[in-house]
Amino acid sequence: MKIENSPLSNELQKSAQEKRSQYFESAVGTTLQKLHSFMRFVSRQDVAKHRAYVSLFEMTQGIVGSIAECGVYFGQGLMTYANLAAAFEPYNYQCKILGFDTFEGDRAHSDVDERGQSVDRKLWNYEAKVFDDLLRAVAIYDLDRPLNHLEKIKLIKGDLCETAPDFMAAHPETLLRIIHLSVNLYLPTRSVLQHFYPRLSRGGVLAIHGLNYSAPGAQKALTEVVEQQYGEKVELRTFGYYPNLVYAVRS
Ligand SMILES: C[S@@+](CC[C@H](N)C(=O)[O-])C[C@H]1O[C@@H](n2cnc3c(N)ncnc32)[C@H](O)[C@@H]1O
Repeated sequence: MKIENSPLSNELQKSAQEKRSQYFESAVGTTLQKLHSFMRFVSRQDVAKHRAYVSLFEMTQGIVGSIAECGVYFGQGLMTYANLAAAFEPYNYQCKILGFDTFEGDRAHSDVDERGQSVDRKLWNYEAKVFDDLLRAVAIYDLDRPLNHLEKIKLIKGDLCETAPDFMAAHPETLLRIIHLSVNLYLPTRSVLQHFYPRLSRGGVLAIHGLNYSAPGAQKALTEVVEQQYGEKVELRTFGYYPNLVYAVRS
């Protein structure tokens, strides 16, 4: 089953989303006018999510490294980071925006993922076959930004259990300022933490969706890799307005 609404939404919220969608289709204005007035159409939840991404970006300004969005889906987070980078750090050419996803939906479930209190992961599949579509979005993004002769966004297609070690082996120069994990599953989360966490700069941020609620596998991976394997205690924080996202600054 593809996800149109958050698995946390109730019926009233789903119906509001349905109305929002119909309103977008039939609203007055050209497509460009709708894009320029996008706040007419988005939900408070999406505004809060956006604000959380802005906060992580701002928190890591001045920290060396790229931003790894692990779990791209339709590209909301990826393009948020990309647009923030182009708007607020136009000359920071060494900060790449790296988007990792199968681009074919969830892969590498394991038993530990099914023990969450609120979401049955077997019932949900965040499937968005948007690899080629996102390349079009990237090409448009590249038209209008400083230093656009240098690649900014890189999409890495495949199961993170394989792409995380492969990417770091192929790019030994890579440092990270944000590791943003929203795959929700134990095995890919563990792979990212094993191969990306040693590259996270001090002062950089590790952000994970669904901790203490809907992603028991992500919590297990965090404990096993960061705390037990790398011997680092993390101070987990969240945003009161967007508690689905938990983060820790690397000290
Ligand atoms: C909750 S969505 C990500 C939401 C996204 N960060 C956003 O801003 O909308 C989860 C994503 O993780 C991806 N995913 C799940 N398992 C994966 C795996 N083993 N390797 C790579 N990507 C995976 C899915 O394809 C899906 O696009």
